[in-house]
Amino acid sequence: MQLAQLKSPVEQHPDKGTVGCLQSRGERSIGVITMTKLVVLIMSYFSFVLIISPFGKDQVQRGEEFKKFLEWTEKYPIAFPRWFGGFTAGLVINHPDYAKAVFARQDPKSMVTYRFFIPWIGKGLLILHGPKWFQHRRLLTPGFHYDILKPYVPLIADSTKVMLDKWENLLANDSTKSLEVFEHVSLMTLDSIMKCAFSYQSNCQTQRQLDYYVKAVYDLTNLVSQRIRTLLHRNDLIYWCSSHGRHFREACKLAHQHTEQVIQDRRRSLKEEGELEKIQKKRYLDFLDILLCAKDENGAGLSDEDLRAEVDTFMFEGHDTTTSGISWILYALAQNPEHQQRCREELKDILGERDLVQWEDLGKMTYTTMCIKEALRLYPPVPGVSRELSKPITFCDGRTLPKGSIVIISIHNIHRNPTIWEEPEMFDPTRFSLENSSQRHSHAFVPFAAGPRNCIGQQFAMNEIKVVIAQILLRFEILPDSAKLPVPIPQVVLKSENGIHVLLKKLDER
Ligand code: HEM
Repeated sequence: MQLAQLKSPVEQHPDKGTVGCLQSRGERSIGVITMTKLVVLIMSYFSFVLIISPFGKDQVQRGEEFKKFLEWTEKYPIAFPRWFGGFTAGLVINHPDYAKAVFARQDPKSMVTYRFFIPWIGKGLLILHGPKWFQHRRLLTPGFHYDILKPYVPLIADSTKVMLDKWENLLANDSTKSLEVFEHVSLMTLDSIMKCAFSYQSNCQTQRQLDYYVKAVYDLTNLVSQRIRTLLHRNDLIYWCSSHGRHFREACKLAHQHTEQVIQDRRRSLKEEGELEKIQKKRYLDFLDILLCAKDENGAGLSDEDLRAEVDTFMFEGHDTTTSGISWILYALAQNPEHQQRCREELKDILGERDLVQWEDLGKMTYTTMCIKEALRLYPPVPGVSRELSKPITFCDGRTLPKGSIVIISIHNIHRNPTIWEEPEMFDPTRFSLENSSQRHSHAFVPFAAGPRNCIGQQFAMNEIKVVIAQILLRFEILPDSAKLPVPIPQVVLKSENGIHVLLKKLDER
């Protein structure tokens, strides 16, 4: 059955739950413009936000979107269609069976939103598709090997310590303090990715105003998010003439100047005799080394343009996602003090008197990892991903979608689908015990997506999250700030409309 053939707003499939219908009540055909549809088109045009947030700006600002999505997931546990901007319709997938079918394929990303990233991050791994994506993925995969990730742990631990020292200073005269964590964590993860991936000491956490590159990256992520949410700015001409567009162009120029400089310096030193051997003997290989030394089977490396696209892609992907993850995990632990305390006990046992996490500690954090996963389930940093089908798809229940359809796999909806998760709103880390995990659908928990286009940085991300959460919990108690509860919004990654506030309390010395 094709989606476009469904005639009633909700059609009960004989074998498999319900799927919402593309047409609104009273309308029979997608191709015919009725009066109602015209109104819907105009309304949805002005209310279009982004592929993973198909509501109006106002609604997004009120934080209504996720609530609506959950209501619809309850009603349509498999999928529901949505108009995007009045011009494009897409199917929002809520069920792991459907997600599995899409994740297994290699359809291109939908350009409805991803195109806004291109002037900045170019066509790197996130955007590419087809043979070029495959070539880049193969070249870059060794950059995430265990041996490469291992020496990153002390670098992340150091960046975390800088952030926590700052927190301690903020607390100097108070026993508890309310803190908006997203901004602090953002600088810390930027600092980390720059040290790990580019051996670049940014000092951005302590001397922010001195570092134009860090500021540019910070601005660009915000500007892309704003552009996606601002209807008029979707038009290139209007955007480039606007003050936002000009700001974006300037920030891009600064970011590119810097990445170009870093690449050229490293290229020059690589050319010097014996430099390659020196790199191989270095304490650790950074991501830039891997990029510069990468060769395909014909001995060809990456072009300058491709290289810069990858550097810019990893700079963005490598910090905004982990910032969201860490910030929401802190919020979830603040809301669930008994689990927070159990993590702390576990971490004290593992680290003893040490402040800084080491590589060997990571595999021992069983309960802490369960809590991290449970928070990633409730607050997935990437709430949804989209694809444009390059050929028709048939789902396991026989329903089909034609070539060219846009599908949005809502990671957020899958993670809270009541037909998959018992009491989905409850924070229950035991869902991720070995026994409980083995009984679950392979695609019920997909914060890093799945299949060939899954997250290449997931191991890096999990390591970073564990180091940061462990060091925070060993120095501070995190309490809820009930006066400033977060309002989740999809802003490329999962953010909160009003920031993520928690109360910090310094723990007694161990
Ligand atoms: C908690 C942290 C993270 C989460 C939840 C996350 C999630 C995801 C998801 C869902 C995708 C699929 C995107 C899509 O299909 O459109 C993805 C792709 C990607 N991620 Fe991550 N990510 C995280 C951290 C990182 C880090 C730290 C890096 C780099 C160091 C990274 C680099 C990438 C890249 C390059 C891709 C594109 C891969 C490809 O298409 O081959 N991510 N990530």
